[in-house]
Amino acid sequence: MAPAPAVERLPVFPASWYLFGATRSLSHGPVSRDLLGKRLVAYVTASGKPVVLDARCAHLGADLGEGCVVGDDIQCAFHHWKYGPDGRCTLVPAKPQAAPSVRQRAYPAVERHGQVFFFNGAQPLFPLPFFADAEPADYVASKPLHLVADCPWHLVNANSFDAQHFQAGHDRRPVGEPVVDCPHPFARRIRVTFEVTGDSVFDRLLRRFVGGRVDVTMTNWGGSIVVVTGDFPRTRSTLMTFIEPLDAEHCVQNVLVFARRSRLPFVNASRLWLRRLFTRGFMAPEFATLAGIRYNPGGLLDSDRLMIDFYRWIAQLPQAPVAQARSVEPRPLCEETLS
Ligand code: FES
Ligand SMILES: [Fe+2]
Repeated sequence: MAPAPAVERLPVFPASWYLFGATRSLSHGPVSRDLLGKRLVAYVTASGKPVVLDARCAHLGADLGEGCVVGDDIQCAFHHWKYGPDGRCTLVPAKPQAAPSVRQRAYPAVERHGQVFFFNGAQPLFPLPFFADAEPADYVASKPLHLVADCPWHLVNANSFDAQHFQAGHDRRPVGEPVVDCPHPFARRIRVTFEVTGDSVFDRLLRRFVGGRVDVTMTNWGGSIVVVTGDFPRTRSTLMTFIEPLDAEHCVQNVLVFARRSRLPFVNASRLWLRRLFTRGFMAPEFATLAGIRYNPGGLLDSDRLMIDFYRWIAQLPQAPVAQARSVEPRPLCEETLS
């Protein structure tokens, strides 16, 4: 059996899509955040387009999040240099002829379901994913569940391929053999059927109202995103997780729960509330068990073959440019403030 890769071979910040935050948080001007080892700024242009740039101004490094939006440009608060959505400098007030040679790094950005997503690289290697054969416009999304993990980002995403932990940690007994494939060069998918075996109130309600067996499909995109569908006999659950590596040993997982769009707003709201409640009940307890775990390729056994293969796949993903990794204070377990 091929061995699991050494930790040095795993990308610190894979080139992929990440969640910046809620579009409405940008309604009063640009917002900057520390993400993926660098300072980034996001804003929405006058024409409604989301933009993500490096936040440190190319002039003297002022934080563009302290500036303002002028039409489609962002203006630095310090000396009023302006940058367009593609990062090109459009104005150096004290020396206008210098502007064409100045550039701020820009990241491809997309607004969907009230959130701004960006690709951590110059060009997207794949489109922002969604559920196969589904249109984003046919779905509504919850606000993100915001789960902080005191462990490397890849250990959270490797869970999809960790067959043992579903029984031990989630009361889901696998039925039959999982099927793993790669439907796209940047996607790795696992399909598995589970029996719902737990005694929690959530599991008893699931068995009573939607059925005790679920066909689950989990597709990892680019290392950072997991698209999950769960087909119960009487409903389908849909969610996406967006990992946010903070540094080599901490990460945040943002979980968006989806429901099919109804024309009635209160139906959308109640569906999302219920599904988010069940998702939180399913996922949040796991984050306590993840605290402090570290990647240990030498400890993986034959029975961890799917996880080892996942790690071999992760190791060949492209690495986005890495800035200085920062250390962070882990935040509370279930802080839900990313909005
Ligand atoms: S630091 Fe931004 S314009 Fe001078
Ligand atoms: Fe899990």
